Amino acid sequence: MIRLAVIGKPVEHSRSPDIHHAFAAALGLDVRYERILGTSFVDDCRRFFGEGGVGLNVTVPFKEDAFELAATRTARAELAQAVNTLYLTPGAAADALALTGDTTDGAGLVADLEANHGVGLQGQRVLVLGAGGAVRGVLDDLAEAGVARIDVLNRTHARAEALEGRFRRVRAVTVDTAGEAYDVIINGTSTGLVGEAPVLPAEAVDAQTVGYEMVYGPLDTPFMADLRRRVAARLADGLGMLVEQASRSFEIWTGARPDTGPVIAELRVALGYGS
Ligand SMILES: NC(=O)c1ccc[n+]([C@@H]2O[C@H](COP(=O)([O-])OP(=O)(O)OC[C@H]3O[C@@H](n4cnc5c(N)ncnc54)[C@H](OP(=O)(O)O)[C@@H]3O)[C@@H](O)[C@H]2O)c1
Repeated sequence: MIRLAVIGKPVEHSRSPDIHHAFAAALGLDVRYERILGTSFVDDCRRFFGEGGVGLNVTVPFKEDAFELAATRTARAELAQAVNTLYLTPGAAADALALTGDTTDGAGLVADLEANHGVGLQGQRVLVLGAGGAVRGVLDDLAEAGVARIDVLNRTHARAEALEGRFRRVRAVTVDTAGEAYDVIINGTSTGLVGEAPVLPAEAVDAQTVGYEMVYGPLDTPFMADLRRRVAARLADGLGMLVEQASRSFEIWTGARPDTGPVIAELRVALGYGS
């Protein structure tokens, strides 16, 4: 049996167990995926891997702690300074807690936009709202996908400025300096969780703009409602990103890449989308 888990605080809302169990069932693998409510992060990790755990997903608020704990980090985790996927470094003893850290959020976002929503990113002008861990996790993958430029607009401008130079094609903008009519606008702020809308320049949206909300759920967030009012071409939420990032973690741990389409469809029904 392959033991996997997600650690977070809170964690009871996490859909990751359902997603990974669906992947395992489709691939005929014997997987047990648990939720761990983080109390003392390093001790919790030590216990999980010491008891035979193979792979651990890390969610809010532990992604930076996981980055610190990982003795080996992939290049993309190093850039993001956040880790959402942990596993024992091959060859290391479990009791040494020698972990490798990776981040799969960016690969998940790009796959969702391109493969699931048909949004080709090559040459696109992208506006990213927010400058927290989720945004740091996706900027390099957006550049890798060939976008022409990435403007980052954040409530605390200094945090957006800190990303310039570190990430390719990134420019920190304000409401006054943002460009006109972006091809893609990605909301990477947590405003959707608290029913607020991020500030968005009036000229940023036109009828060709695709809006992407990282938060997911069956109802429009205020960001999505705002873009709908401004007649954006298309809107998507982060459910596909969630499943796609999970599939990358699953592949890292098991070597098998699951088919995400059926799992996204099942989750949409379970969460009441379109009803
Ligand atoms: N779908 C997925 O698979 C997936 C994956 C990862 C994350 N997410 C979602 O992405 C969101 C961001 O996560 P995170 O880890 O980056 O969080 P974080 O590190 O706490 O960053 C939060 C960001 O939101 C901004 N913000 C918060 N409240 C705001 C407000 N009232 N008005 C304007 N901006 C506000 C913050 O701006 P300041 O810098 O000014 O504080 C910061 O840029 C979360 O909602 C998370 O659920 C989804």
